[in-house]
Amino acid sequence: MTPSDLPYIPLSVPSVKGNEWEYIRECLDTEWVSTAGTYVERFESEFSAYVGADYSVACVNGTAALQVALQVAGVKPGMEVLVPTLTFIATVNAAHYLGAKPVFLDCDDFYNLDVDKLTEFLENHTEQREEGCFNKATGRQIRAIVPVHVFGNAARVQQMTDLCRSRGIRVVEDAAESLGTVYQDGRHTGVIGDLGCFSFNGNKIITCGGGGMIVTDCPEMAQKARYLTTQAKDDDVRYVHEEVGYNFRLTNIQAALGVAQLEQLPGFLQTKQRNYLAYKERVREIPGLNLGEVPPYATNNHWMIALQIESGYRYDREGLMARLQEARIQSRPVWYLNHLQKPYAGCQSFQIEKASGLLQTTLNIPCSTNLSPEDIDRVTEVLAHG
Ligand SMILES: Cc1ncc(COP(=O)(O)O)c(C=O)c1O
Repeated sequence: MTPSDLPYIPLSVPSVKGNEWEYIRECLDTEWVSTAGTYVERFESEFSAYVGADYSVACVNGTAALQVALQVAGVKPGMEVLVPTLTFIATVNAAHYLGAKPVFLDCDDFYNLDVDKLTEFLENHTEQREEGCFNKATGRQIRAIVPVHVFGNAARVQQMTDLCRSRGIRVVEDAAESLGTVYQDGRHTGVIGDLGCFSFNGNKIITCGGGGMIVTDCPEMAQKARYLTTQAKDDDVRYVHEEVGYNFRLTNIQAALGVAQLEQLPGFLQTKQRNYLAYKERVREIPGLNLGEVPPYATNNHWMIALQIESGYRYDREGLMARLQEARIQSRPVWYLNHLQKPYAGCQSFQIEKASGLLQTTLNIPCSTNLSPEDIDRVTEVLAHG
């Protein structure tokens, strides 16, 4: 077989083999296709039960969820939001949409916001005033921080929350990638800060096609998030609005997909774990390559698998990506760092070092739940023998 005859192995595609058809058919048969309907509420309540949050608010996507969560957290134009530079740009854009400025921070060994550098930044580069925490360099108020659980690795959110709460900085967790990742004490990622946001984009561990969820234990914040995502109606009979809201509510059809996908999540997590271990066993034998480690204080949903390339390996990141592509295997580099992106040129970045190294040496390799043992053989064969 020549490489061109081999089936393509994509990076991360959904698996839709449960009750999706049945639930969507029910939406169509009953004509509840839009934002009202039982599946939206069912998805929210089953999601709350799964992650252990008091409230869940379904949104059109994870980016919208982050934007609304930051607004609920009190982010206003001219304020600042602390974000990791190593994340998908949606985390940063959500703050930008509100007229806020990002301040970029470095990451730790698990690709997550570095809590030691955050401590250093807060202790030595900010000052506390009556209204809250102010950045000494820019004079702007820091209203929120967005830790991201990158690739399903749990960030050290409890420590960050301890540092930020007393300073009046709200914590909005970007848990877009970490559904199923749980801390050792049993708490799910996304429920430790003031608000948490999930994504159900097509490449996530469960999908609604597109979709997002805001979770919180605070009834006022949940109410405000629901109000903002449904056009901020103060009287929904007479259409009176005292604020500008958004049309960000998930539809019943998307929620039906979400309910069916959530039922399959335990199976998806088992498969992801099995695939990770299979990769790990093989990659251990290949000089110059490693798999990203799991933080010792949490599980990992293994949403995305991070291959780390040492300098002695026969390819660099670009070379390996090209070789895999030739073998009809998709891979993906880490997102280009956000402090270097054109829209954010001129924004403050603080001691960014590790993220730059990880960007150069990390490649994501196929991790879909429908990956077969033969697919893993094919990928690791290329990694081992080029
Ligand atoms: C870390 C992170 N934040 C935010 C998002 C945005 O989610 P969505 O694509 O649902 O808008 C994603 C994924 O797409 C993500 O990976």
